[in-house]
Amino acid sequence: MNDCLISQQRKAIRKHIRQVRQNLSPQQQFEAEKNITQQALHFIMQKKARRIGLYLSFDGEISTKQLIEKLWQHESEVYLPLLHPFSPHHLLFLRYQENTNLVKNKFGILEPKLDVRNVLPTEKLDIIFTPLVAFDKQGNRLGMGGGFYDRTLQNWQQKNFVPVGLAHQCQQVDALPTESWDIPLFTILSA
Ligand SMILES: Nc1ncnc2c1ncn2[C@@H]1O[C@H](COP(=O)(O)OP(=O)(O)O)[C@@H](O)[C@H]1O
Ligand SMILES: [Mg+2]
Repeated sequence: MNDCLISQQRKAIRKHIRQVRQNLSPQQQFEAEKNITQQALHFIMQKKARRIGLYLSFDGEISTKQLIEKLWQHESEVYLPLLHPFSPHHLLFLRYQENTNLVKNKFGILEPKLDVRNVLPTEKLDIIFTPLVAFDKQGNRLGMGGGFYDRTLQNWQQKNFVPVGLAHQCQQVDALPTESWDIPLFTILSA
């Protein structure tokens, strides 16, 4: 398939699934959050993971709020991505605690204020839970279009962390058209 067609298909899937996701009711969102929290905690315990990369939900993404609160109670370390200040399209991970100041980035997503003392090299994370727009059963991931996680997850098999997607079931598609730079996830938990 030619590249232009793939890119058009990906854009169409992105638009469609974002719409479906935004149309989930508050009740559906609430049930999904409860369910995904249990699945994620189970996965974290199985992996004996302590340093957890997470994200703050946006645009109807499955909520990570309960999960983060549980991790704080269990004394796990939670890290959030921040747009890299001088390396475009790259992410940095910063410690997220109850007293962390959050600011909106250029996409309107909350992120911790840059403070080098709170940065953890990505390789030191045990799990990176990623948001996504669409996924398929092969573990392929479609994001918002910036390729941020593709860059973060490059060669993850040779690193310490495993990348795990979190999603609503309605975000699954049969087969995502992929590009050469797309990095498949280890697994996707959905609810
Ligand atoms: N190593 C890379 N990884 C990911 N994206 C890259 C890379 N190098 C360049 N890009 C560009 O970043 C964009 C990522 O697109 P895409 O994978 O569709 O986004 P997303 O993964 O957020 O859905 C593309 O325009 C691509 O050309
Ligand atoms: Mg991609």
